[in-house]
Amino acid sequence: MIEFKGVQKTYPDGTVAIKNFNLEIKEGELLTLIGPSGCGKTTTMKMINRLVEPTAGDIYINGKQLKEYNIHELRWNIGYVLQQIALFPHMTVEENIAVVPEMKKWKKKEIHDRAKELMQMVGMEPSIYMKKKPSELSGGQQQRVGVIRALAADPQILLMDEPFSALDPISREGLQKDIRKLQKQIKKTIVFVTHDIDEATALGDRICLMNAGEIIQVDTPQKLILEPRDSFVRNFIGDKKSPWQTAVDIVASQTVSRILTQTAYEEGNFDSEQAYILSSDDGQVLCAVEHGKQQNVMEIPNDMNVLEAVSVFENTGTSILPVTKNNELIGTLTQQELLTYLASKTEVKNGVVTQ
Ligand SMILES: Nc1ncnc2c1ncn2[C@@H]1O[C@H](COP(=O)(O)OP(=O)(O)OP(=O)(O)O)[C@@H](O)[C@H]1O
Ligand SMILES: [Mg+2]
Repeated sequence: MIEFKGVQKTYPDGTVAIKNFNLEIKEGELLTLIGPSGCGKTTTMKMINRLVEPTAGDIYINGKQLKEYNIHELRWNIGYVLQQIALFPHMTVEENIAVVPEMKKWKKKEIHDRAKELMQMVGMEPSIYMKKKPSELSGGQQQRVGVIRALAADPQILLMDEPFSALDPISREGLQKDIRKLQKQIKKTIVFVTHDIDEATALGDRICLMNAGEIIQVDTPQKLILEPRDSFVRNFIGDKKSPWQTAVDIVASQTVSRILTQTAYEEGNFDSEQAYILSSDDGQVLCAVEHGKQQNVMEIPNDMNVLEAVSVFENTGTSILPVTKNNELIGTLTQQELLTYLASKTEVKNGVVTQ
């Protein structure tokens, strides 16, 4: 849908903003662009609607080079939302929304219906807000109007440059939900710039992480978190790994207290209320002992993750598993330890589990 091929941008003063940019953004995709300040995010966006011209390489929309489009048609077909929404202060909300549809010569009734429909979509009651001026709206409401103004003439592409960064966390979350909902309903291709990795992962089908004019990694949020390409990516995204992805040796007790040697077992030298892993005197795993009875177990390697360990527990039916490293018994993992660990890593905000 939008394709960058070998794109470079050097500003007239010699600043190299984009070095070598190759990227394909798919139709209906929400791609978040993220990276440190000055890495070239805004420049990338502005090249899509030709507010900035590349110094080398080409950009295509639907297979056609940008240069081949009539510039006005191109811009009408691309909604653009900026960090500081610049609504026209002397116009009402409805008039602001109507700007591009009017240029496109839509009929009055059509424009009015469209404005009403979009306002309802973002939860602003048209009968209350349609005739208000921007100064009579809250920051979050102005931002919403900015978003729907960009959508009014039904553009195929929506560019959003840090549209929510001036907002408080609650309005921000609300608007993120709106964008997700809008994208599902109207299937726009959206390029969304943000500084905030949580926003990037919450919104993006894919995340494009940039640094110093280059793409470092483009992947789904999950892949970026689980398989960061290098230490830059790892540092940028921080510790976003889900507790389910933690290796079991972090959770397991690596003390020998739950390992029962054969000799101790035969001598009855253990607490029959507890679960143990029975090992031969030379450290080989034999079985589990629960309520004094022997049961088969499966060994789990130390790098297995918590999610996989849960399914091993389901399959074996024991409440304790032996953890091995290079086939050597290094500790034990109990169901209780897993539960305690997961509970400690789970955040509950307003009754909603967030991790
Ligand atoms: N008109 C310009 N003339 C010269 N240099 C510019 C111009 N616009 C941007 N730059 C430079 O190009 C580089 C990339 O800027 P850009 O605005 O694309 O970064 P950004 O990733 O959007 O940063 P931020 O997160 O701070 O918004 C920066 O070094 C910036 O100083
Ligand atoms: Mg910017």
